[in-house]
Amino acid sequence: MTKKAFSVGSLIPGRETVHQSPQQVKKDDHIQLSQKSDAVQEIKGSQKGVSWKVTPIKGQSLLETALEQKQQIQYKCRKGTCGVCTVTVEEGQALLSEPNTAEEKKLGTALKDDCRLACQAAII
Ligand code: FES
Repeated sequence: MTKKAFSVGSLIPGRETVHQSPQQVKKDDHIQLSQKSDAVQEIKGSQKGVSWKVTPIKGQSLLETALEQKQQIQYKCRKGTCGVCTVTVEEGQALLSEPNTAEEKKLGTALKDDCRLACQAAII
């Protein structure tokens, strides 16, 4: 049996039910929670007609993650100035940070077409 309680986390959509203490969490609840967190979310996109997909790693840039996962994304400066790492994000935009100043300056209106600088887009 679960009890409703309010905490900071209870305001996050999908996490309305909060257990009052870790001791009250049943084994079944652990399984259910771990299954939710194990749901693989991917970020998919393309660059110059070449598709790629990555499993997000929080705290890294999209470029770092892609290179670590052997995805073919072209890049040069890694500072947000050259624009070589421009990619179109087709799925998983919600897993990325809001565009920063460098992206706004370099991409302008292309941001609305889901273009991002892979070296500047942080995975959140
Ligand atoms: S590598 Fe130059 S802007 Fe990203």
